[in-house]
Amino acid sequence: MQRPILVTGSYGQLGRAVLAAAEIRGLEAEGRDLDTLDITSRQAVDEWIVAARPRLVVNCAAFTAVDDCETAEGSARAVNADAVAHLSAACNVVGATLVHISTDYVFDGAGSRPYREDDPVAPTSAYGRTKLLGEQAARSAHRHLVIRTAWLYGRGGRHFVGAIRRQLEDGATRLRVVADQIGSPTYCDDLAEALLDLVEVGASGVVHVVNDGTTSWHGFASEIVRLLGADAEVIPVTTAEFPRPARRPAYSVLDTARLTTLIGRRLPPWGDALARYLEASCEP
Ligand SMILES: NC(=O)c1ccc[n+]([C@@H]2O[C@H](COP(=O)([O-])OP(=O)(O)OC[C@H]3O[C@@H](n4cnc5c(N)ncnc54)[C@H](OP(=O)(O)O)[C@@H]3O)[C@@H](O)[C@H]2O)c1
Repeated sequence: MQRPILVTGSYGQLGRAVLAAAEIRGLEAEGRDLDTLDITSRQAVDEWIVAARPRLVVNCAAFTAVDDCETAEGSARAVNADAVAHLSAACNVVGATLVHISTDYVFDGAGSRPYREDDPVAPTSAYGRTKLLGEQAARSAHRHLVIRTAWLYGRGGRHFVGAIRRQLEDGATRLRVVADQIGSPTYCDDLAEALLDLVEVGASGVVHVVNDGTTSWHGFASEIVRLLGADAEVIPVTTAEFPRPARRPAYSVLDTARLTTLIGRRLPPWGDALARYLEASCEP
């Protein structure tokens, strides 16, 4: 019998998607979240992983409140970096592969062409710094795969698509949305499929995984409004007009050539993925 897959952060949007994708493929998978496993506890991590003897641990748990990280960098580091070292050590004990999820925030966003996996990292926020330390901790797992992704949305998550939809449901007719940050909106279901495909082909090291194509938050919001058939104007604004505690990368486009080589396909275009998500999440 094949050894199981363990998933941390299983109530999060990506954790749910990974568990669902594993189930569809008939893979045995067990998820845990904060109520049953706090990954900052080395002992709890060890006990879980040693008892389950998984072949794969997918770490979807994280301190993801980007702005809160600015004032709670120590707590963010405990989850996003120190806990990853616990997971790596436990994976090494049982010979498991660690799949760790990282972010476009490890780059400064000052680039003008898509970031490759080996481009220099230079985080400009506390969140980005803790996630970069997490990547380094993941590398101490003898078998590891670090997936950098961006602009996630999916079932059960707190995300941009939900925020726009709520505003429309509340009757908003004018939405002011940042137009000078560029990235690739990415559907957790598509990311989860690619993650399992990467595992299947034995990928290791760092791989960038995002839906195909790029847009701004303004473009993303406009497409959400259009697909929902809402009667609302989306007004472009600048980042400077929308100050936030954490600095956001302006150009967050990730080069996915390595992904394409490894699994033989690109992820679907972001607009198609968004349409699929909205259709699925509108089902009763
Ligand atoms: N969201 C994005 O746009 C985005 C972009 C790039 C990369 N990523 C990365 O993708 C991964 C998945 O993100 P996501 O959007 O699915 O996040 P999410 O929806 O916030 O899920 C993260 C889950 O981890 C849990 N968690 C927090 N601290 C924990 C701890 N100490 N022990 C165990 N579980 C803990 C959270 O619980 P609570 O909710 O109770 O805190 C939550 O259920 C993360 O590594 C994130 O950094 C996300």
